[in-house]
Amino acid sequence: MIRKCLFPAAGYGTRFLPATKATPKEMLPILTKPLIQYGVEEALEANMSHIAIVTGRGKRAIEDHFDISYELEQQIKGTSKEHYLTEIRALITQCTFSYTRQVEMKGLGHAILSGETLIGKESFGVILADDLCYNDGDGVLSQMVKVYEQYECSVVAIEEVPMDETQKYGVIAGHLIDETTDIYRVTDMVEKPAPQDAPSNMAIIGRYILTPDIFDILRETKPGRGGEIQITDALLEQAKKGKVVAYKFKGDRFDCGSVDGFVKATNYYYEKSEK
Ligand code: G1P
Repeated sequence: MIRKCLFPAAGYGTRFLPATKATPKEMLPILTKPLIQYGVEEALEANMSHIAIVTGRGKRAIEDHFDISYELEQQIKGTSKEHYLTEIRALITQCTFSYTRQVEMKGLGHAILSGETLIGKESFGVILADDLCYNDGDGVLSQMVKVYEQYECSVVAIEEVPMDETQKYGVIAGHLIDETTDIYRVTDMVEKPAPQDAPSNMAIIGRYILTPDIFDILRETKPGRGGEIQITDALLEQAKKGKVVAYKFKGDRFDCGSVDGFVKATNYYYEKSEK
């Protein structure tokens, strides 16, 4: 059983400056809920109640969000506004939160390695909160848990993207091993390839289930694309041993790390809330 979910949340969110100057990008709201809260809800739905967050300087608001605000509770208690806190209160009681800081920004792989101290020697989920996923049925991480239980190896969630967007993602090559559930055995993966170098148009989105040997691999992984330690490169080492499957998830994904995706997500959730 997978109990823990890691949230790399140390990045600067430069694409949202100046909004992210003093506010963590993970705290930007889609309607009234910060992005990271959607992620924590998805993790909990997948039965991962141990939330491990890799933070950095300037990210204190995340810790405060997943804590009780006594002053606010006092103010709002017994008023018509109390219901606004129902969801976050429920999350706080159902999850535990632990934090560690990524001291230097050396890439997503490095951020995940920084989380080792919170994870230990067990398989775990990873959510990149700026990829916001929605599905009417099981959430994406829940869907991936089922895949993990079947194949007992690392799992990446993938989506087909237009060929001219491959340089924004980790891209995989693989062969289909289960047609009905859209699962591929990964044979190659490349971080942010130019379209002409991309092995396919199947892009990794911000959802992973990783086996704990990934930490030893990450320790040995040299800086790759952009001079950063890439999780894609570490996963390739597992893939060479047949130990990574890619799963074409069911649902919608919004890249809330871009203004365009953020606006689309806002409109999508707004329309849903109107119904
Ligand atoms: C990261 C990963 C990339 C993945 C993407 C999903 O890139 O490095 O492989 O496809 O997340 O959102 P980033 O978006 O942090 O640049």
